[in-house]
Amino acid sequence: MSDRFIMQNRLMVALDLENKSQALKMRDQLMGHVGWLKVGLRLFVAEGPDLIQTLTKKHHVFLDLKFHDIPNTVAQAIEIAGNLGVQMVNVHAAGGYDMLQKAAQAAKHFPDMKLIAVTVLTSDGSMSAEQAQAVAVERAKLACDAGLSGVVCSAHEVAAIKNACGDGFLTVTPGIRWGNQDLQDQKRVADPAGAIQVGADYLVVGRPIIQASNPADAADEAVSMMCDAQYG
Ligand code: C5P
Repeated sequence: MSDRFIMQNRLMVALDLENKSQALKMRDQLMGHVGWLKVGLRLFVAEGPDLIQTLTKKHHVFLDLKFHDIPNTVAQAIEIAGNLGVQMVNVHAAGGYDMLQKAAQAAKHFPDMKLIAVTVLTSDGSMSAEQAQAVAVERAKLACDAGLSGVVCSAHEVAAIKNACGDGFLTVTPGIRWGNQDLQDQKRVADPAGAIQVGADYLVVGRPIIQASNPADAADEAVSMMCDAQYG
């Protein structure tokens, strides 16, 4: 496996698009440039499970719906996500230990699917950096104890979370920007090299790729920065 291929499989593109035709167009433009596609609320509410099953044919898919409800409801939703064939799904760690544990039990039926928990949104600027890190670490420990595979966090919190939960506990980092890109609603950001250097396992990039004039070139640029950071 080439270094580039390995890094393409650590890059997740957020398909925050309006509908199926836009999503499939973007998928085709990015074919061979990234390994993962992330489907979040906008696209899922618009198109539902059929699109997920189409996307899983050619990519790893992260279903980013951040489930946050009573344990039974969340566990049932996780089962359905597993049956759709996605490789990653998430819940919100603020749902508490019982919810996390029930969700982890449901996910165990799908060995190829990772269950991760959102710690603190990368768009949340209401706390100081120290507070955000403390809350993120506390929620990561809860998720780790409950049997989840990892968390969504900002690159700023990766080192502390790995320290508390172990290197094998996955960290998925949105809030990635580089060059003079607009931060938009993101607050706790890092560039692709910075996220790799602190040990993030996966990087989530949305608008800097899907709104680029050439999305494949933007994805290649991110992968190059990731490769340089990892392999020099
Ligand atoms: O466009 P941008 O790169 O900011 O997209 C980031 C993506 O990651 C969005 O789809 C957003 O919903 C998602 N996300 C996030 N922060 C989290 C969890 C998910 O930005 N904590």
